[in-house]
Amino acid sequence: METGITNPMDRRPNRPAGGKSFPRNGPPPSNGPRGKSPPAKPPLRRQVTTLWEYPSQDYGDTQQGIPGYVGATPSYIIWNMIDRYTKPGDLVVDCFCGSGTTLDVARDTGRRALGYDVHPTRKDIFKVDARKLPPELTNKVDMVFIDPPYSTHIDYGPDPRDIGKLNAAAGYYDAMTDAFKEILRVLKPGKMMGLYVSDSYEHGKAFYPLGFELFRRLQDVGFIPVDIISVVRHNKTLEMGNYRKAADEGNFFLRGFNYLFIVKKPA
Ligand SMILES: C[S@@+](CC[C@H](N)C(=O)[O-])C[C@H]1O[C@@H](n2cnc3c(N)ncnc32)[C@H](O)[C@@H]1O
Repeated sequence: METGITNPMDRRPNRPAGGKSFPRNGPPPSNGPRGKSPPAKPPLRRQVTTLWEYPSQDYGDTQQGIPGYVGATPSYIIWNMIDRYTKPGDLVVDCFCGSGTTLDVARDTGRRALGYDVHPTRKDIFKVDARKLPPELTNKVDMVFIDPPYSTHIDYGPDPRDIGKLNAAAGYYDAMTDAFKEILRVLKPGKMMGLYVSDSYEHGKAFYPLGFELFRRLQDVGFIPVDIISVVRHNKTLEMGNYRKAADEGNFFLRGFNYLFIVKKPA
């Protein structure tokens, strides 16, 4: 099984060699080609309260991750975690790597990065189950960021190990707990992990408070809580009139925020 441990900076398909380093306030906003101005993106800034918001999926004039990938993480969240908790040269791991947003942000900022997923979307993501990370990674990682499936919200592909096939009422929490144990093993003592997740509401059926349960399980396996961030969602469905009307008339709520749980491995 190839896991990229020997040289984590190899196999970058779509980023410049060596990565780019942006200053703390980030790259300048793009003006777009031939004078056409897409809505200006504000510069990246460190978020300083427990309510995070940025109006775009990507920062700067490039895209992080694969454009159009369903379920991609807004890259400013990962940028904030990396900027705050790591330094250039550190090793960042994402074991639910999806379209590779974490890899791109890590390399933009001069960090080394390793990505794992059971449905790899690009050459620099290794086909590895987050519950069985490479044995040689023990105590080697400076930060882990994950945005795992939120129970069965999205079909990511056919691999039966996909935790997104597990309902919150049947197996999801235990599978995530096994992934948390692996993340705890690979982190260096005292180092941070960010878990980005939303609760799950199945219309007319059930509400699953995924965030609260996962935060409890993180502590059960040995992580120390550092903080809980509420991240404003800019999901398109939140703006659609028919969704808003249905929520209003049906007495239910659209998901307006995600949690970002920040925890650390004991020193
Ligand atoms: C929400 S997506 C990640 C999005 C990613 N952060 C991005 O920006 O593109 C969740 C990912 O978890 C992966 N996944 C599900 N079960 C997994 C497992 N057991 N091990 C590793 N990855 C898994 C899915 O294949 C999917 O790519």
